Amino acid sequence: MILELILGVIAFVIGYGYLINRIRGLPPGPPPLPILGNTLSLGEPIDQVMLRWSKKYGPGFTVWIPGPVVVIADHQTLQDTVAKQGDLFGDRALPYNQMKLTVGGAYGLLFEENHMWKEQRRFALHSLKDVGFLSTSLQESVKTYAQQIVADWKREEGNPIDVTENVMYGVANVIWQLTFGRTLSFKDPLFHKVEKVIDRWFKEWVHPCMAFLDVFPAIVYLDPLFGYPLKNLRGTTKECLDIIEKELDLTEKNLDMDEEPRCYAESFLMEIKKREMRGEPLGNFTRQQLNVAALGMWTAGFETTVTTMRFAIHHLMSNPDAQKKMQAEIDEKIGQRQISMEDQKLLPYCMAVIQEVQRLPNIGEFNFFRENTEEVAIAGYKIPARTAIMPQFPSVHIDPAHFERPVYFCPERHLNEAGEFVKDPRITPFSIGKRACLGEGLARMELFIFLTTFVQHCSFSSTSLIPPELKCKRGFTRSPLPFKVKVTARF
Ligand code: HEM
Repeated sequence: MILELILGVIAFVIGYGYLINRIRGLPPGPPPLPILGNTLSLGEPIDQVMLRWSKKYGPGFTVWIPGPVVVIADHQTLQDTVAKQGDLFGDRALPYNQMKLTVGGAYGLLFEENHMWKEQRRFALHSLKDVGFLSTSLQESVKTYAQQIVADWKREEGNPIDVTENVMYGVANVIWQLTFGRTLSFKDPLFHKVEKVIDRWFKEWVHPCMAFLDVFPAIVYLDPLFGYPLKNLRGTTKECLDIIEKELDLTEKNLDMDEEPRCYAESFLMEIKKREMRGEPLGNFTRQQLNVAALGMWTAGFETTVTTMRFAIHHLMSNPDAQKKMQAEIDEKIGQRQISMEDQKLLPYCMAVIQEVQRLPNIGEFNFFRENTEEVAIAGYKIPARTAIMPQFPSVHIDPAHFERPVYFCPERHLNEAGEFVKDPRITPFSIGKRACLGEGLARMELFIFLTTFVQHCSFSSTSLIPPELKCKRGFTRSPLPFKVKVTARF
């Protein structure tokens, strides 16, 4: 009897793994286990695992993490679907329970209700543009922070330093200014408080219990069993939102309805007040939406940019030839004057370094999920409407079919025979389609101005004969573990 039961369970597990995708009308994929799906296979870097599965099961395949997701990890298929049929892939597969637990519902700019993303994204882009997003004055602010940072490093000359703090200070202030209309001084305790709480928040968010929350909501009752990861996350999110609320209160206190808005929060608060004065319904323009959107803007725009720059400095320290080539190009074409966005065309090698830095490290191992609004064809399979879809561009970045020796840092691969920079459509760190990064222009500006100014003024070298191995931690983003570097002033 027991033997029959065991054999029955084994037959069920095997049958489930091999038949479930066919029964659900989904493309094939690695056989999932009941309840756990394929989650146990995700111990290795996810971009690599997805690439391996894509080669084995095809350009569109199904993974259960723990619910079913159709993953597209092939460049051409991504272009034919998510890029060319953007409207069908604009919605997100929303983690409702995760959003409810943390911020009280599907609000913000990343995981807001699907009926409101177009309005909220358009409003955010317009208001950011009105307050100087990508303008010359914002560029001037970025240049000023870059100059302050190199001046600080020059004072540290010779001492091994961790570049993170200064880079964070520059990036944080750009986004803080755009969102809340004020900047923080480097010594401001709020700056360090925010940095610490966000770091903890990211770590807590990727706890496996969160992945199961939307598929098995009853997991909340098992929270004590796992050491209260959900309760801790709720507490940390509240800490983050409290900081944001205080900042927004300050913005609201200084709001002058007769003046032009100076930041995203002012535009949003003015919209609320205008609607109130006209006696119109507030619709999605609520304080809750603003709180979560401001938190999202801050978290999406900060960690990503800082992490990319830390990767860049680690690669330049480990590849002194690439660093010297950047410096030679800057010395020849720019000299010691301040570098602007218009100089991009004069600096093809620097552009190649930045593109390589956005390809190789893959700061996001996997992308956020979308949801198809209608039935769509992906790689020859008809995918039912409202299926979770993952546009897995990070795996394309490390696909040997596209990039020879993909793990090798080689900026030269982005130059043509004439030495000109070639923008590669297969490298899409800001994703593709209608939900691609809202801050792409700003991030590109920061990466170019900060990184070129850094190497124009300073050389980055290892503190030991052999540069330290690039070790990373995994969380929301993949980022280098803390490392020290010797900074030498060039003039
Ligand atoms: C190197 C820096 C950055 C990288 C690599 C990056 C990457 C990404 C990626 C991969 C997505 C998800 C797209 C998708 O779902 O397919 C995203 C979304 C987003 N990013 Fe960025 N990002 C960066 C900087 C920024 C900055 C500076 C801002 C702030 C202005 C920002 C704001 C956002 C927002 C609001 C979204 C959600 C867009 C939506 O769902 O409609 N990001 N970003």
